[in-house]
Amino acid sequence: MRLAVWTTFLAFMCYLAMDAVSGRRNKNVPKSLSPMPKLITQHGYPAETHTVTTEDGYILTMHRIPYSPKSNSTDTKRPVVFLQHGLISSSVDWVIMGPDKSLAYLLADGGYDVWMGNSRGNMYSTKHNKLSAMLPIFWSFSWHEMGVYDLPAEIDYILTNTGQNDLSYVGHSMGTTMFFALMSVKPDYNAKIRHMVALAPVAFLRNTKSPFASITKLLPSGVLFDFVSNWPFFPNKKLSNGLLGTFCKIGTITQSMCTNTLFQIGGFNTNQLNQTMLPTILHYFPAGSSIKAWKHYGQLINSGSFRQYDHGLVNLYKYGNLYPPDYNLDNINSSVSLVVGANDWLATPEDATQLQLQLPFAVYHEVGLPEFNHFDFLWAIDVKTLVNDKVLSLLKAN
Ligand SMILES: *[C@@H]1O[C@H](CO)[C@@H](O)[C@H](O)[C@H]1NC(C)=O
Ligand SMILES: *[C@@H]1O[C@H](CO)[C@@H](O)[C@H](O)[C@H]1NC(C)=O
Ligand SMILES: *[C@@H]1O[C@H](CO)[C@@H](O)[C@H](O)[C@H]1NC(C)=O
Repeated sequence: MRLAVWTTFLAFMCYLAMDAVSGRRNKNVPKSLSPMPKLITQHGYPAETHTVTTEDGYILTMHRIPYSPKSNSTDTKRPVVFLQHGLISSSVDWVIMGPDKSLAYLLADGGYDVWMGNSRGNMYSTKHNKLSAMLPIFWSFSWHEMGVYDLPAEIDYILTNTGQNDLSYVGHSMGTTMFFALMSVKPDYNAKIRHMVALAPVAFLRNTKSPFASITKLLPSGVLFDFVSNWPFFPNKKLSNGLLGTFCKIGTITQSMCTNTLFQIGGFNTNQLNQTMLPTILHYFPAGSSIKAWKHYGQLINSGSFRQYDHGLVNLYKYGNLYPPDYNLDNINSSVSLVVGANDWLATPEDATQLQLQLPFAVYHEVGLPEFNHFDFLWAIDVKTLVNDKVLSLLKAN
């Protein structure tokens, strides 16, 4: 079994690397690609950019589709939905498949005011009111900080800006981890959530099958490693600040292998991956994060618990205990819909089931395709019918 997994891993890596290299020769593809929010206007929708500063000084960019040209009411108060991307990704996730398929457009068509976050360290959020992103200390954060600092700043900004009392939240992967971290650490924020939809939810990682994720188990924990690991993780090739001048940036072949390796995180489903879309997808992805965010996930695999960052001996100082504290899931009294892919190697059905049992108000849904994987939630050919229509009906029902 192990051998089979690794063989598949290597074979697909080579296959996808070759595919992307050949895709890159198609000069027409990258030329037509625009950054957000221009991408949205090119798709025929109104777009806005908003910036918000977190309590600890990070300056984040949010993108917004305030209404759909296909719907009538632009003046009435529209219900707000906030979309939060996963690790090394960005707000582009929610629009990249275009108006017919992508969730942000379908929600706008359905009458929602759609806001999209960009967590600290991705290509749209590399500013800070004191620190430069060239400084290692800028990168000293994991998804804990994205949950506990980024999300409250964004949620409060949106509610103030729209005059609403609450919003619905849709997260993918790390976007769900951030939510669970926030709601357990600052439970008051539950009152600002109407409903939460967790696509490929990640809290427990004991059963993850992803070879790529398992590599994190090899990383040491402790002060020294923490000190040297304050670096970006898979920054976007177009928009990165040039810190990670290594594997991922040099030359087309290694660069493609680097980005394509990421497909290994989630399990494979070639039938739902549109090969023509691959160069476009890899233009925006990966979008960058911190090494610590990745490493924090490795710690969850090792411990089998959903708990705060392990600083080694510094835990004694930070938490007053040798081990980091668990996130208290009992605090999460928001109503949650977990949407799970049966072939998701990272956010496995086993771990999602454990999460469902421990959350006070969670309902478990499985996507109606056995091969459905972690990235299909964003890029599947049938993402509209398999996932996004379901998200709309879950939001309408709650
Ligand atoms: C817009 O309003 C018109 C007239 O009230 C109505 O016929 C049409 O169905 C509406 N369109 C949408 C998308 O709601
Ligand atoms: C959820 O918890 C928060 C904070 O503890 C509280 O303000 C809120 O009333 C609770 N909501 C429900 C539905 O129990
Ligand atoms: C794959 O993507 C291309 C380019 O966006 C598109 O023209 C084509 O219709 C897509 N194929 C499927 C099966 O969705």
